[in-house]
Amino acid sequence: MELDIIHLKEIDSTNKYCYKLGKEGKRNLIVVSDVQTGGVGRLERKWYSDFGGLYFSILLDLEEFKKECKNDNIGKLNFLGSLSTYETLNCYLKDFKTVGCIGIKFPNDIIVNVENKDKKLSGILSEININYGFLVLGIGINVNNKIHDEIKDIATSLKELEGKEFDRFEILNKFIDNFKNNYYLNDDEVLKGYKKYSKTMGKYVKVITPKEEIKGTVFDIDYNGIHLATSDGIKHISVGDCVHLRKDKR
Ligand code: BTN
Repeated sequence: MELDIIHLKEIDSTNKYCYKLGKEGKRNLIVVSDVQTGGVGRLERKWYSDFGGLYFSILLDLEEFKKECKNDNIGKLNFLGSLSTYETLNCYLKDFKTVGCIGIKFPNDIIVNVENKDKKLSGILSEININYGFLVLGIGINVNNKIHDEIKDIATSLKELEGKEFDRFEILNKFIDNFKNNYYLNDDEVLKGYKKYSKTMGKYVKVITPKEEIKGTVFDIDYNGIHLATSDGIKHISVGDCVHLRKDKR
């Protein structure tokens, strides 16, 4: 798979830009922007996108993915995104306080546990257009950017964790290598990798969906979502926000 890179100084959102290009028939592109003036997160949240962070979106062709990966489950692409982001960022955590503290929080966040607090280092927003047959995988990584006061408790950056600045484009290139390698893995290998690095597997969690909130212990995660053992039996939830709970907060 070949991916052309478009580097912009500023855009509202690389996801929105890729979505527009997708409708114009473009494919196999990465759009990276130094700044986003209207970066979007999951569930229509704002994604702070000041200079210093890494903000990029990958525009992929769904038919090509299905053919090349012999896979009809496009949910796999989100897992490939998280696994590749995890592998990339894991290489950069060298401080004794951060080594081994990184993991994936369901569905696609990369979090780091520092001083007993989980903080978000990276997030993924995937947007699909079935009619036009493309998917946009948008990835935001807090690298050297300032973490705004209102999210200081829940977010962190590589610079904050390691006390030095990082080369954003070296990180992007590492990500691309990892993504290209992982792209051809079979389902079992992708899920095995994802679950190995998952901080959600085995946890007592609350999953918030537009319809309900369900608490339970996570016993499996796959392309179709998260599987919980709850007081009302086994529940499967495909999309939702997941909160890790402490055992004593049942
Ligand atoms: C989340 O965790 O809520 C997902 C955050 C995704 C942010 C990235 S930054 C690049 C791309 N462009 C956007 O507007 N959003 C994604």
